[in-house]
Amino acid sequence: MADFQPAFIDELIARNPIEDVVGQYVTLRRSGSNLFGLCPFHGEKTASFSVAPDKGMYYCFGCHKGGGVINFQMEIEGLSYPDAVRALAKRAGMNIPEDEQYQSRYRQQERLWAAHKEAARYYHSCLYAPGGQAALNYAVSRGMSKATLTRFGIGYAPDTWTGLVDTLRKKGYTDQELKDSGLVTVSKKGELFDRFRDRLMFPIIDVRGNVIGFGGRIMKKDDNAAKYLNSPETLIFNKRKNLFALNIAKKSKLGYLILVEGYMDAIALHQYGFDCAVASLGTALTEDGANLLSKYTDQVVLIYDGDNAGQNATKRAIPILEKAGLQVKVLQMRDAKDPDEYLKKFGADKFRLLLEESANRVEYQLNAIRRKYDLQSDDERVKYIHEAAQLLCTLGSAVQREVYGRRVAESASITYEAMKLEIDKAYKRRISREQHRREQESMSPVRTLQPRARSIRYDNMRSAMAEEALLAQLLKQPALFDQIGELKPEAFSSPLLGKVFAQLLGRYRQGLEVSLGVLSDFTAEEMSHLAGVLQRQDTPVSESALQDCISIIRAEYQKRGVSSDDDLLAMRNKLKERKGLKV
Ligand code: CTP
Ligand code: MN
Repeated sequence: MADFQPAFIDELIARNPIEDVVGQYVTLRRSGSNLFGLCPFHGEKTASFSVAPDKGMYYCFGCHKGGGVINFQMEIEGLSYPDAVRALAKRAGMNIPEDEQYQSRYRQQERLWAAHKEAARYYHSCLYAPGGQAALNYAVSRGMSKATLTRFGIGYAPDTWTGLVDTLRKKGYTDQELKDSGLVTVSKKGELFDRFRDRLMFPIIDVRGNVIGFGGRIMKKDDNAAKYLNSPETLIFNKRKNLFALNIAKKSKLGYLILVEGYMDAIALHQYGFDCAVASLGTALTEDGANLLSKYTDQVVLIYDGDNAGQNATKRAIPILEKAGLQVKVLQMRDAKDPDEYLKKFGADKFRLLLEESANRVEYQLNAIRRKYDLQSDDERVKYIHEAAQLLCTLGSAVQREVYGRRVAESASITYEAMKLEIDKAYKRRISREQHRREQESMSPVRTLQPRARSIRYDNMRSAMAEEALLAQLLKQPALFDQIGELKPEAFSSPLLGKVFAQLLGRYRQGLEVSLGVLSDFTAEEMSHLAGVLQRQDTPVSESALQDCISIIRAEYQKRGVSSDDDLLAMRNKLKERKGLKV
């Protein structure tokens, strides 16, 4: 982590009021001293996302994410701590006292972006050079128009050993930079060669418009060579965190994004007018990829290949997308293996129809359930009805339950009334299960007070509750730090809360601002937990409450055993006192 001066962070926070920063992403409405809106981190219809300007905090009662303005910036833009600080500094027009290490890393990244841009230019020009004739023919034979070739910057890596190496060297790139770029391979003797040779080149461009890598497709059928060769992971390229064509699709006016498997599919969709298509980068969809999508849309249409692999990938992708708060529709490929082939066979209008009727998640899951059973067998039909009812009873809308219920009834040759009974039964079972769970939870407060994340679990609940309450009071009224006496962070049973206490105490003594938002060096999970603590521990400030907390923390600390000599002595005296012994 970059080390920013605490005073700098304080000013940064002061000049980026949390309600303003959050307000750029979320429509907030005031209610009392807090503001509320729809949580940007999970899909919801009622506002459970709160911002407390006086505390400099945000907290979602639904997904339990929370923290200060820097955490918000990190979370919403997927940035590291230093990058979030930089973004906020820029927003407030502040100069950043950067450390040497970051500056050199950033300079290195800039060099790699520039080298990739040069490489993309070089490959693109090679496509139109005499040696690129076969590649150009191939691209055209795959249906790419001239405009598409330009738009996506499609290129050709010639069949030479050092064409790109020479070009980049001439432009002043050092061998070290070439190695770091991933655009070259290094021989045993240490010589540099072009990594991509005789391939059709697809530049991969991030959402900020930087070329960060390439995918290269082989043009002749060759069972010995991989069809695609992709850039290796580098300082600027992470295939799990980027998506092909998102730089274009993010500007689409269509209002949703289409996620496909292949570069060629995404390109074909764009060419046929679906400028909202993106593709994963030679990897299954990741959580990072889904989060990235969710920054630009709340609805995704999944169109994976019709084969088994594609269907399995679809099943895996749905929950990942939903977890990112996205509404998912699935388009089942019919009569073509992938969208590229479909568009070429049937055209854009047919495809649009397919898109419009594209099965939503329920339909897809119902189909999946149906395929598991042989509906000729009575026995299996009963199982099918049962499982379908289980799915349908989770639907919030009565209309949906009826529409899909009728469909299942029909496919299982039973009446809708019988099906409805089945759904209602499943619904009641579900509700009573949930109620049971809630009761269990409320009967066992320890479980609900326990942090969600295992890594920050409380070992001593009595002490931890006092520690939470103490911190909440101190945060509300930092002057109370003068009343805490000799309480040390070591006395805290929770390492996390002790660390917070230590940082806040240090800041108080230096005359710096004391709030949760200014804390550094805590994970998103930890910050969310701390924000939740502040929400929960909302009793008014009082000195006696403060002293109660301190006594509990001290008492529990002593029970745990003694670590320092002073404490040992105190403990012995106490014991003797109690037993009426003389020292
Ligand atoms: N892929 C890869 N390496 C391979 C094969 C595939 O990285 N050896 C990735 C590529 O990102 C590719 C995607 O998986 O775009 C889907 O593969 P496929 O459907 O085979 O490729 P298409 O892009 O559809 O290309 P084409 O239509 O030319 O077969
Ligand atoms: Mn394909």
